[in-house]
Amino acid sequence: TTRYDFYGGHQAGITTPAQDRLHFAAFDLADGATRDELASLLADWTDAAARMTQGLEVGETGAVDGSPYAPPEDTGEALGLPPSGLTITFGFGPTLFETAEGVDRFGLADRRPPALEPLPRFTGDALDPARSGGDLCVQACADDPQVAVHAIRNLSRIAFGRASLRWSQLGFGRTSSTSTSQVTPRNLFGFKDGTANLKAEEPAEVAEHVWVSSEQGPDWMVGGSYLVARRIRMIIESWDRVQLAEQEDLVGRTKGEGGPLSGGTEFAPIDLDATDADGTPAIAADAHVRLAHPDVNGGIRLLRRGYNFVDGNDELGRLDAGLFFLSFQNDPARFVTVQRSLARDGLNEYLRHVGSAVFAIPAGVPEGGSIGDALLA
Ligand code: HEM
Repeated sequence: TTRYDFYGGHQAGITTPAQDRLHFAAFDLADGATRDELASLLADWTDAAARMTQGLEVGETGAVDGSPYAPPEDTGEALGLPPSGLTITFGFGPTLFETAEGVDRFGLADRRPPALEPLPRFTGDALDPARSGGDLCVQACADDPQVAVHAIRNLSRIAFGRASLRWSQLGFGRTSSTSTSQVTPRNLFGFKDGTANLKAEEPAEVAEHVWVSSEQGPDWMVGGSYLVARRIRMIIESWDRVQLAEQEDLVGRTKGEGGPLSGGTEFAPIDLDATDADGTPAIAADAHVRLAHPDVNGGIRLLRRGYNFVDGNDELGRLDAGLFFLSFQNDPARFVTVQRSLARDGLNEYLRHVGSAVFAIPAGVPEGGSIGDALLA
């Protein structure tokens, strides 16, 4: 079984090879919660995360070794399961730094990174506030869904009285590869997703695009990143009536191999200038991979780490399905640039963005530290 350290220079769960399953959760601090309570919550979460990622139970007495007259410290459903590559990644939302009715809730107003603004409205957004935002986030990824759910469940339980769950999202079938050691998975449109993604094996590119540098600052964010989460509903019933050639034109890649329509196999570079025999662009003007490509976005690359979701069906009998898009970048403005470019994306006819959030992801901490140390120092 795979086991990742919780402690380290960067948080795990970013360049870590994307696991198969996700449970993502956004939390709000309780009304009237104090700075001390925030600090103690982050310390307790760190401790629990360090244990769970090693396959250990939460607390000193775990699930079954405590007093028979007290609720167990660990909820127990991961007993006997291996760590399953569990990573737990923590983040801070813009609202954590806000002043409410003139009161600086946690004394953090002057700590807010200027880059941590709520995302602007994008064309076609149909956001549900109940699936957006949050003071804190926790991304739990594992190769076993029960292990990921156990992590979020126990962290929610530990938060009781200090913070409560605002929204959460389960995901399966990672829609990205973050390592060249991984086969490219497919999203629910049936296309390979993650081919041109930033990979852990490109450390110079990861340093340039993902980690916050000391020039960017602020100091407490150096070595961290920013996470954008978008719940993107895919209207798959309509998509499934689209001809294969049209589907490929909308993406800009072939469906089977995943090669660019400008030619070549999956990992062949995209040639945006290539034309077909009749002189039309091989990769259409509104193709997703053209509009998302670094060449038309000032060189920007995102580290995508999203998951597929199917949450039952809606009242019209359509699957409530889509992509829970997650991307890490050292400035959320980079996501904004790409998402604005995608305003002309032909895929939009089959997509609806229904949830949105942005979080500052602090750097990792050494053993014995708390994930809140740099922020609250
Ligand atoms: C590439 C699908 C949303 C950014 C791709 C590829 C597919 C795909 C099939 C080609 C394979 C690859 O290189 O990974 C989708 C679907 C989406 C979606 C189905 C919505 C449900 C987004 C969003 C963004 C984005 C919201 C960012 C704002 C990118 C980027 C690439 C890409 C940067 C690589 C382009 C390149 O360098 O060639 N996407 N995508 N995608 N997508 Fe998306």
